Amino acid sequence: MPLSWDQPIKEELRMVEEEIMRNARSGDPLLTEIAMHVIGSGGKRIRPGIALLSFRAVGGTDLKKMIMVATAFELIHSATLVHDDINDGAETRRGNVAVYRKYGTQRALITGDFLFVKGFRLGGLIQSEDIVEMVADACCQMAESEMLQTSSENDVSMPLDTYIRIITGKTAKPIQASAQVGAYIGGGSADQIAGLGTFGLNIGLAFQIVDDILDIRGDERDLGKGRGMDVLDGKANLPLMIAMQGHHPSSARLREIFSKRKKTQKEVDEALEVVLATDAVDVAMKHADDLRLKALRGLDALPESEFKDALRTLADTVVARDR
Ligand code: IPE
Ligand code: IPE
Ligand code: MG
Ligand code: MG
Repeated sequence: MPLSWDQPIKEELRMVEEEIMRNARSGDPLLTEIAMHVIGSGGKRIRPGIALLSFRAVGGTDLKKMIMVATAFELIHSATLVHDDINDGAETRRGNVAVYRKYGTQRALITGDFLFVKGFRLGGLIQSEDIVEMVADACCQMAESEMLQTSSENDVSMPLDTYIRIITGKTAKPIQASAQVGAYIGGGSADQIAGLGTFGLNIGLAFQIVDDILDIRGDERDLGKGRGMDVLDGKANLPLMIAMQGHHPSSARLREIFSKRKKTQKEVDEALEVVLATDAVDVAMKHADDLRLKALRGLDALPESEFKDALRTLADTVVARDR
């Protein structure tokens, strides 16, 4: 297995990077600067990576189209991060000051819209109704899930299936779309496209659960974003939900803190300590690992190749990452 998931697609990812930079430019210098602020700060490029690996794993060769669509996924993702930080009141993103903190909310909204449009334009240029539908459907589900998450803020009794609905829409669907669209452009069979859909969906769910875990116990320097944000915002987070269940006095204290509309930093720190003193992170990690195994079964319809191996490595990385 490759040591890193990007090993067999380094050249393709370099081309995506170039295309991203081209698309972050506008006639307005400040808009270009702000777009570059988020696009140029790094990011793991997981979505274009999954799209490219899926494309290659089914034997895809029409690279020009694939680069455009892989770029579209990253532009759309970056747009959502700019808007997400406004909604979540985040201070930092990708190791930098969050866009709205540095340039103001109005300009952050405009920049997010700009990146969205650039992404959709690029995807639309392929002139495939199916692709437009798959990407638009994932983005609409993301919006619907963000609405649901907002309505559930500070809710200590959110059912697990509501949590799953939220993370399916906000994270797993876009990652699923990356895998499916990659396989579709690569000319994969219906079985292969569906299998990679299964892979993307489950690895996307695992990805968000690990993101939740990192919000509880990650290192802010590795993450490039703040820790404890979900507690502060009262947002859906699996380890938190697990630790809030039960009759233990610490669960009750956690529910008390979580349900407050305004929380002090001291309360956030206390909540994190309470969660870490339970086995909630381990239980959540077990869920993420089960989803990884489910994702791997989606690869059964693919012939063995270095790209299939890299998808396996990517699945391992998603669960084992610290950033
Ligand atoms: C962050 O996504 C938002 C989530 C869906 C959890 P990533 O963790 O992929 O962010 P970057 O692109 O690497 O910065
Ligand atoms: C990501 O969820 C939601 C998006 C669709 C961008 P989070 O709010 O948990 O992502 P981070 O932790 O801020 O990156
Ligand atoms: Mg956020
Ligand atoms: Mg998060």
